[in-house]
Amino acid sequence: MLTVHNVNKLRGTCRVPGDKSISHRAVMLAGISEGQTTINGFLKGEDCLSTIRCFEQMGVRIREENNQLVVTGNGLYGLKEPEDVLDAGNSGTTMRLMAGILSGQAFHTVITGDESLRKRPMKRIAAPLREMGASIDGRMEGTKAPLAIRGSKLKGIRYKMPVASAQIKSAILLAGLYAEEKTSVIEPRASRDHTERMLESFGVSVKSDGLTKTVQPGKLKGTHIEVPGDISSAAFLLVAAACLKGSDVTLENVGINPTRAGIIEVLQQMGAEISVLNQREVGGEPIADLNVKGTSLKAVDIGEDLIPSLIDEVPVLAIAAACARGKTSITGAAELRVKETDRISAMAEELKNIGVEVTTLEDGMVISGPQPIKGGKTNSHGDHRIAMAMAVAGLMSENPVEISNETCMAVSFPGFMDVIDSLIDK
Ligand code: S3P
Repeated sequence: MLTVHNVNKLRGTCRVPGDKSISHRAVMLAGISEGQTTINGFLKGEDCLSTIRCFEQMGVRIREENNQLVVTGNGLYGLKEPEDVLDAGNSGTTMRLMAGILSGQAFHTVITGDESLRKRPMKRIAAPLREMGASIDGRMEGTKAPLAIRGSKLKGIRYKMPVASAQIKSAILLAGLYAEEKTSVIEPRASRDHTERMLESFGVSVKSDGLTKTVQPGKLKGTHIEVPGDISSAAFLLVAAACLKGSDVTLENVGINPTRAGIIEVLQQMGAEISVLNQREVGGEPIADLNVKGTSLKAVDIGEDLIPSLIDEVPVLAIAAACARGKTSITGAAELRVKETDRISAMAEELKNIGVEVTTLEDGMVISGPQPIKGGKTNSHGDHRIAMAMAVAGLMSENPVEISNETCMAVSFPGFMDVIDSLIDK
């Protein structure tokens, strides 16, 4: 159990760990490319370690050298049939993106995951991958993990996605590398585009026409990947510093890809003083240093257009909403119900446990503020982002916030509490 006490303010400069989405993709694309790939800034969080283990089980050599990962690619068709079940742990990205790659392999694999992942919807990737020619079975009529996949020669499809999801889009685009002709996906709204950008770095071109992305089958060539700091991890520090008056925190080297940067826009709309400094582009991804100063926040309406660009930040945004003056509404976020946990009901439950009132909607929540955070006992529900959102609440709570089941923070942000400690203005 973790106990978080209130603080006056946060001050200082720090870095957040590497981007989780980009780290997964770097290992996967390197594994199926030809030649060597070096990866700098790789996130050694539990989720990405699951991806490494799965690719090692399929014969990919991955080692650490001079603080970088060095991956020796096996080429598109060089992965080996794993002897045992692959375990994606808690990681939806591992299971779904890997399913796209496995759909093109002429062998049999079974992928499982932890209790949370085995409950999450897999039909969303299984259906289009079956349409491409893969054989995918699973529990509950093929909709839940463990999934059994037997790949084959695939055919290109044109697929209209029912939800904006980078995991679905990426699974299909990766399978498209193994297809006989081009493959297109059409999204209802733009989701994160790291797969498209990184495929380009590996020498495969992805055509973008509005919300339609098209990939031609082709080989990948090993390269060097620089993983920026994860804006979804930075979000916890941004919100904490924005809410605590007198704070002044600089986060260096954070990815600000527009398909991910909704948190900056929303906090600025709430009146937060965030400066985006020293903007540059590294390996096809825009990055910057972010400075945030604590001030009074006001409420904001977050609707479906913005949701894909801040989907993982909603738990911590709920804390900002409790501190802000007025009624904050978050709608169009039904996808939150199928994340590591149902983040709408889990956040509502835990906010109530620390004395914050919230009204839940089928697709979001409404929070009126400013509300004093009273503190109390909470549970992470095994969800890293709920655990860290509760820790942020503890920093501004009248009484301590106790968080049980908090070790899951290491899924995306190992050392989170050490970073917070280093910023506390003593
Ligand atoms: C991710 C995409 C998002 C996000 C997840 C990581 C990715 O999921 O919530 O944490 O790396 O592609 P969806 O694509 O299912 O929305």
